Amino acid sequence: MSYSSPLQNKNILIGVCGSIAIYKICDLIRKLKNEGANIKVILTTGAENFINPLLFASLSGNKAYTDADFFEADGKILHIELAKYPDVILIAPATASFISKLAVGSASELLLATLLATKVPVYIFPSMNTSMWEHPATKENIEKLRNFGYLIYEPTEGSLACGEVGKGKLPEIEEILEIVKAHFVEKTLVGKKVLITGGPTREYIDEVRFITNASSGKTAFFLAKEAYYRGAEVHLVWGLESFPYILPNLDCFSPIPFPKIYFVKTTREMFEISKALFSQCSICIFAGAPSDFRPKTPFKGKLKKKEPLTIELELTEDIAKILSSYKIEGQITIGFALEEENNLLNYGKKKKKEKAFDYLIANPLKTMGKDKSDFIIFTPKKTLEFKNISKPQLAKILFDLLGS
Ligand SMILES: Cc1cc2nc3c(=O)[nH]c(=O)nc-3n(C[C@H](O)[C@H](O)[C@H](O)COP(=O)(O)O)c2cc1C
Repeated sequence: MSYSSPLQNKNILIGVCGSIAIYKICDLIRKLKNEGANIKVILTTGAENFINPLLFASLSGNKAYTDADFFEADGKILHIELAKYPDVILIAPATASFISKLAVGSASELLLATLLATKVPVYIFPSMNTSMWEHPATKENIEKLRNFGYLIYEPTEGSLACGEVGKGKLPEIEEILEIVKAHFVEKTLVGKKVLITGGPTREYIDEVRFITNASSGKTAFFLAKEAYYRGAEVHLVWGLESFPYILPNLDCFSPIPFPKIYFVKTTREMFEISKALFSQCSICIFAGAPSDFRPKTPFKGKLKKKEPLTIELELTEDIAKILSSYKIEGQITIGFALEEENNLLNYGKKKKKEKAFDYLIANPLKTMGKDKSDFIIFTPKKTLEFKNISKPQLAKILFDLLGS
């Protein structure tokens, strides 16, 4: 089974306006194309002052349209054709000037006429100087566009090309890419609350040293992202110190709340927070790698070097087992088993039964920190084996199974 991006074969029309941020769109086009999307670009007259259409034509592999094409006498009504072409339209960067013209319903340019003629969702990414963004005229125009149903992604704060620091920056291209991907993910989990544990925990030997493991949290992150893009309210109990991933804010388009990330250190903390959330969540995925042992009596301060040194360990809370035993009717629990490769099938089967999981995903030790691995998914009815699949693909497969 190969992983197909949600952007595979999607037609995307990008309208670009005359802002310095226009250069970033070249990278966006490449990234969208790499995900399998088909791209067409319309440049405003303002945009043509910044970039020659040839660059967009070369990157997209399609003609890049300008206002010179609007009134061509070639028997086609170009703005109607372009309005029907895409599955989604992105206006990025959107200038204050363009926004004002769209807000009054003008169709005096090719991009404006195309937007008036289209029925597909339109995402608008404004980019401008902070004072221009904060001007009452821009604010009123943005509000009008929101009321018309345009999907406005507010600019971010940062240092702007004009030298000022403030709100008005085009979001990072990775973020725009993620918004477009999320757009095409079927919203199968709207109204559901999903609990996911992720990453390792640490158990302190003294105040500066601890026992931990090599879990990267990647599997949990991709599960959280897939659940979020499918419309779920996600609660991620996270054992790493930082969260080095980009997740776009989708709540300006829909009532999907941004995933709540709870940073924890020890297994006890991961347990306590997961326990408090457990009864509210209909899907609970234990993808975390809590330390199974902890020093029975952690030393105060910093332990001095000495030999021999014996540290007595005790077992930590078995989060997945304890919480799975609290399961009520309709709740689904999903466990993970990291085991030695040659015993994956047997250990997986045993663990699923022992801990009363509805689903269990068994993966070999080599999975830790890797982007791809082999996985065995034990569902309530069958056992499915997957070789060398990516973690995003695993997340998609799992939620597809839950949805069927
Ligand atoms: C160097 C330069 C940078 C500009 N950057 C922006 C910008 O980031 N955002 C914006 O709204 N307007 C910006 N403008 C003003 C627009 O280019 C101008 O309003 C233009 O008419 C917009 O045309 P369009 O809406 O057809 O793209 C800039 C102008 C110049 C000369």
